[in-house]
Amino acid sequence: MENRSQWGTRLGFLLAAMGSAIGLGNIWRFPATAFENGGGAFFLPYLFALLTAGIPLLILEYTIGHKYRGSAPKSYSKISKGMEWIGWWQVAVSFVISTYYPIIIAWAIMYSYFSFGQQWGSDATGFFVADYLQLADPGTFGSMVPMVLFPLLAVWLIVFFFLGRGVKKGIEVANKIFIPTLVVIFLIIVVRALTLPGALLGLDAFFKPDWSMIADGSVWVAAYGQIFFSLSIAFAIMITYASYLPKKSDITNNAFITGFANSSFELLAGIGVFATLGFLASQSNEAVSEVVAGGVGLAFMVFPEIISQMPMAGLFGFLFFASLVLAGLSSMISISETYVAAVQEKFNVSRGKAVAFGGGLAAVLSLFFANQGGLNLLDTVDRFINSYGVALSGLFQVVAIAWFAKGLKDFQSHADSVSDIKLGLWWRVCLGIITPVVLGYMMLQNLRSELL
Ligand code: PHE
Ligand code: NA
Repeated sequence: MENRSQWGTRLGFLLAAMGSAIGLGNIWRFPATAFENGGGAFFLPYLFALLTAGIPLLILEYTIGHKYRGSAPKSYSKISKGMEWIGWWQVAVSFVISTYYPIIIAWAIMYSYFSFGQQWGSDATGFFVADYLQLADPGTFGSMVPMVLFPLLAVWLIVFFFLGRGVKKGIEVANKIFIPTLVVIFLIIVVRALTLPGALLGLDAFFKPDWSMIADGSVWVAAYGQIFFSLSIAFAIMITYASYLPKKSDITNNAFITGFANSSFELLAGIGVFATLGFLASQSNEAVSEVVAGGVGLAFMVFPEIISQMPMAGLFGFLFFASLVLAGLSSMISISETYVAAVQEKFNVSRGKAVAFGGGLAAVLSLFFANQGGLNLLDTVDRFINSYGVALSGLFQVVAIAWFAKGLKDFQSHADSVSDIKLGLWWRVCLGIITPVVLGYMMLQNLRSELL
């Protein structure tokens, strides 16, 4: 199979990997997570997690993909026949995420339109829940919401379009457009945010270190959790993307670049979000800690309220939601490519058929989230995936490879054979000991908080 698709350029691969990594996790998850876990002091466990787990795992996933040149299930089956299921597990987690991730992109599309004229009026929360989503009681479905359904279909059309065109002409082109545009838009937003009254108040709250929290195990779990999610690790994504690297590609260097680019964007987002929250706090005479939010609440309830109070509200609202759309789309494409590649190889069908079948099934399932009960269902599924899916797939992955396969030395020599930076004992210790211990502990914490 020497006719395997390949990236056109090294930059193309890097932009695609960054496109997957840089997503909603950077914009709406990192700032609130850092704030709640010690503010400025959170950077210590965060950096530690990046260097002991994030980048080492990224190197491992790039190595697996590059060495075995297959989708996640195929690559694992080449490591050992009995490990194919790990690849399918990761693909399955990605598949589930790909049924609700596009819903959020769809909301952001509508909100970039609502921004002109600030259609959410004076009660942004009420507008989101009652007027826009027409949210039904938990456990009920209700009818389809057209204003979610139509942008959702648009998202799928875009995803189908780029996936259908293949690695170089589709995925690479999409990221070459989306990521530079995202960075430019985001820089404009951050500069604007920093020049708003109250911005420094927000930054002060964000960076003020609470060192007493460092001793708390849950802060470390939060740091590792953020790094895993943010770098798209253990989702089969980075294995799949690395399988399209040409033979002569530096692995280790690429992993460092991806890791630091993602963290830089995360820091930038933290600054932008908190400068904006500082503005809100100063306008409403509240403490910054009272207006902090993350996730859906930050983007669709708090931000609209802030946007309404800004000069040139329409323009900045549009730019903010457009940045969510671009960050989301590039991640969405990467999640869906995991099963497109897996189906293509397992059943020996064309890319077009794999996109139609895999993407088609995910698209149909995504319709469940486009009705009046959508937000409740999304919360439930997302919580489940984050508590179990991610930690478990990471754990399976490192334990299988470090403890049961031929061992890390094999992977190390492959990475070293193509990379400028040579791996050492540190890499094997991070993956063989630190990461499994942290993931195991994380799993137990999640189980405990779920059961108690
Ligand atoms: N890494 C992405 C982010 O930070 C999230 C993501 C997770 C994307 C899983 C794809 C798969 O937002
Ligand atoms: Na990220």
